[in-house]
Amino acid sequence: RAPGLLDSYGRVASDLRISLTDKCNLRCTYCMPAEGLPFLPTSKLMQRDEIVRLARLATEQLGVRQVRFTGGEPLLRKDLVEIIRDVAALDARPEISLTTNAIGLSGRAAALAEAGLDRVNVSLDSICPETFAIITRRPFLERVLKGIDALGAAGIGHTKINAVLIPKINDTQGPELLEWALAGGHQLRFIEQMPLDADHIWNRDAMITAAEIRRRLSVRFDLTADEAPRDGAPAELYQVRLRGADPTSGSLGTVGIIASVTEAFCDDCRRTRLTAEGAVRSCLFSHTETDLLAPMRAGASDAEVADLWRGAMWAKPSGHGMSLDGFQQPDRPMSAIGG
Ligand code: GTP
Ligand code: 5AD
Ligand code: SF4
Repeated sequence: RAPGLLDSYGRVASDLRISLTDKCNLRCTYCMPAEGLPFLPTSKLMQRDEIVRLARLATEQLGVRQVRFTGGEPLLRKDLVEIIRDVAALDARPEISLTTNAIGLSGRAAALAEAGLDRVNVSLDSICPETFAIITRRPFLERVLKGIDALGAAGIGHTKINAVLIPKINDTQGPELLEWALAGGHQLRFIEQMPLDADHIWNRDAMITAAEIRRRLSVRFDLTADEAPRDGAPAELYQVRLRGADPTSGSLGTVGIIASVTEAFCDDCRRTRLTAEGAVRSCLFSHTETDLLAPMRAGASDAEVADLWRGAMWAKPSGHGMSLDGFQQPDRPMSAIGG
């Protein structure tokens, strides 16, 4: 029996992403349709004890070392603090992180930190209120900014900000967003848009590429690629200095670029995912899923569930295959996968 979550290409998954809900309080154009989606009934979602059982199994038996909670929007789970507290109490305690839009975070950051949350990545594509409202179809920028501020106050450091650049909407705002992030001590990461939008309007030719992002930032900044090994992380990191500054002077901070499309990092992928309804997705772009929740509810043992999980990961595809003929966007939009 393979020790952990090994796939047929020799990769081993140690990072688990658990989607806690498919619901969200924003409607970002690259992720969800304006009208929302038919959301799952609560009975189909993994319950707190089921999530904790799977996290225990993953960390104790399958070699998982990091657990990231995603959504939809994970802060919409009323029991998020309790889930985090339970996972933090596991014998093989993983690093625990959250990917969120930060709405509602201001009131809960302290409780989340106390429960054991280690790190938070916040999705924020613009600090201009009008642009924010166009992208997310909701006027909630202030709440997001308040949420980000609350993280610092709660002692959760190392916040990363994820920004997708969208042609003709926020693609000229990269430098101002970076300035804002550097001033707040956050690591901003620009993300190439992937074909995971609910409306299936993603267009490879219109997408803002990593090369284009670097070019646009170079108007105001000099970027020096970080030497440190990437260790399976999706972002390539750069030290940032003002344009023309002495390259040996101290940097203002780092910026990341996540080039999922043009500089794919699938060969070094260490991720395994659970959907909110308790199925393993071996890859963002999988066309199949392996249900763990129904077997668990039918009385499967830990060993049986672990075997199902291993089998699902063995069949992980080599990569997203976006550049191949016949590439098909998966049925699930980003909001139902969790990024
Ligand atoms: P850390 O590096 O641990 O902070 O987390 P992360 O960057 O993996 O997590 P986050 O949820 O912040 O994801 C940021 C972006 O990375 C997402 O928007 C995706 O665009 C991209 N990403 C995350 N996981 C994958 C993946 O498995 N495949 C691809 N192609 N992109 C991914
Ligand atoms: N392509 C790339 N990144 C996306 N995200 C959401 N939809 C897409 C997409 N189509 C990002 C969000 C969030 C992260 C989990 O996924 O910015 O931060
Ligand atoms: Fe891993 Fe699939 Fe993402 Fe590639 S697209 S990095 S294989 S999850």
